[in-house]
Amino acid sequence: MDLHAEEDDLFEGIDEDLWFGLDDGESADQAAASSLAAEVARITGLKPFPAVARRIVAELSVEDWSTHRVATMMESDPSLAATLLKIANSTFYAANGRTSQDVREAVVKLGGQRVRELVMGLATLQLLNGRGRLARRCRDHCAGTAAISRVLAGVVGIPPGSLFVAGLLHDAGRMLLMESGEIEYAKLESRGKDEVPLIERETLGFDHAVLGGHVLKAWGMMEPVPKLVAWHHHPARAWSGGGEVATQLAVLRFADHICDAMENPEQDPTWRELTEGPEGEWAGLSEHRVTTLWRMLEGARAETLAIFA
Ligand SMILES: [Fe+2]
Ligand SMILES: [Fe+2]
Repeated sequence: MDLHAEEDDLFEGIDEDLWFGLDDGESADQAAASSLAAEVARITGLKPFPAVARRIVAELSVEDWSTHRVATMMESDPSLAATLLKIANSTFYAANGRTSQDVREAVVKLGGQRVRELVMGLATLQLLNGRGRLARRCRDHCAGTAAISRVLAGVVGIPPGSLFVAGLLHDAGRMLLMESGEIEYAKLESRGKDEVPLIERETLGFDHAVLGGHVLKAWGMMEPVPKLVAWHHHPARAWSGGGEVATQLAVLRFADHICDAMENPEQDPTWRELTEGPEGEWAGLSEHRVTTLWRMLEGARAETLAIFA
């Protein structure tokens, strides 16, 4: 028997770059990997990526894409078109430049790559349509984290495009697990931010970050978004690899924790600890710097919440 072939079977559908083992022996690792692969297949089978978004992304991937064709396709999904227009006109997304009157102008103003990322992000969000208080709160948290990520990326001096989308989708896996009811999040409300992924792992073998990264990749999301999503509770790989991904992940983690602090002002803010750790180093953000940015971050968050309300 070819052991390697069997191993490949067990890990089929698993992207090793996005995968984290349990350090619990190889067989437990493989069992967790195959249950993750089954979960990704179940979700993507149940929720195919929207055809309109797929066509827009395909059009934008060719060199001579046409604004007219993109705008026409976009207009066939009025909710997608309306949200894209609002984002293009938001102060945090396009601080300078005039207001776009319609989708055509917004596409020209944003440019192909940004539109592609945003369409992927917004179409994915349409698939995460769970109802109820916790699902709504999670969607708001994602929208807030997106806005804060984008502002911080500008401050830190890295291209902000992917960070908005990574923020928007960082807890996609959590929303999917909420929908499937596999984890009772209502019972975990008092648990710490980094404690929840550990409980998910104990229950399922994988957590919402790794699940989200894999599902986004299966839906066709471009890197670095799946990687940032998969690593947002496991940053060690990013720190050891270094480079732009480490800075991007540091910004995403700051935004995630800052957004939590804005949502729960009565709790001790956890973002302050990040300024002392690798996040502070990679993003170059000190406690003083974040404090001086606070009002701007709050403004961007409020604007995005209104867009997605
Ligand atoms: Fe998370
Ligand atoms: Fe989060």
